[in-house]
Amino acid sequence: MHHILSASQFNRATILTLFTTADRLKQERRDHGVLNYLHGKLVYLLFYEPSTRTRTSFGLAVRYLGGRTEFTEAAGIFSSAAKGETLEDTIQVLQSYEIDALVIRHKERGAAAAAAKVATIPIINAGDGDGEHPTQALLDLYTIVSAFPTHNNLTITLCGDLKHGRTVRSLCRLVIKYLAGSTENWNFIFCSPPELAMQTDILEELTAANIPYKIATDLAQTLLTTDVFYQTRVQRERFPDAIQGDAAWSSVQASFALNAQNMATMKPNAIILHPLPRVGEISPEVDTDPRARYFPEQTRNGLYIRMAILLTILHPKK
Ligand code: NCD
Repeated sequence: MHHILSASQFNRATILTLFTTADRLKQERRDHGVLNYLHGKLVYLLFYEPSTRTRTSFGLAVRYLGGRTEFTEAAGIFSSAAKGETLEDTIQVLQSYEIDALVIRHKERGAAAAAAKVATIPIINAGDGDGEHPTQALLDLYTIVSAFPTHNNLTITLCGDLKHGRTVRSLCRLVIKYLAGSTENWNFIFCSPPELAMQTDILEELTAANIPYKIATDLAQTLLTTDVFYQTRVQRERFPDAIQGDAAWSSVQASFALNAQNMATMKPNAIILHPLPRVGEISPEVDTDPRARYFPEQTRNGLYIRMAILLTILHPKK
């Protein structure tokens, strides 16, 4: 493993190895605090889009492994991109300073792949526009398989803004790779207003992989059969104008938001995930239900999965 650009680059074996490494690092961190594996390593965090979880958990993952970070936040404003420098040139400049890896979040789909083309160091995609967010998918799948140790038949509902959300795209691609060659039967329900439906490239990939899916617009009906309910935020920053973004947000609030009332029909052992941030599509009253796993379990898994990724890339023998 060198770059991490897409969830499609993994297979069941590489996924399971990462999960085992994450389990191990969770324990080692509890036993020993700050570890020493990345002593002397420098990871650069180059973020052109806002982030709380991804940037912080990558930063802390490096530190908890004994390495150090350097970063540019709001890189569109505070890097030479504001002067017109290309992403490719920025990458070549940063790597000339002898950094060991670079984590990038960018507003354009394909940006991480473009960075990787000129990079001599590992590039990790922390979100490329409406493209992908592979490390989020890894932590999501890790949370799912931890919650369902015997997970032969699972119905995963992806809800909200499936058109613009990169986390749901990566999760579908990761599940395709995870299930390939296994006897497990998982299926997806895509529950959203029609104008925010999952894009056809992902639907075609699921069909080619023989993974069944349904398109739904009735949340209450969907919740009855769901094992994993994965809610998402309307990605208002991806709409051509604010009025369209507002309208999409309102339609999700009206018919696709999870609250104490409609979740009452969910299976007792279902789990509720959200990549976060949320902006009203899960009511805070849901948080205390044991099925809600976004705080702290899913979020915290981001730390261990990113520690596992960094260790695998930068210190493969450990
Ligand atoms: C997601 C993202 O940036 O794609 N956030 C995250 O990394 N956890 C989801 C979102 O912003 O809605």
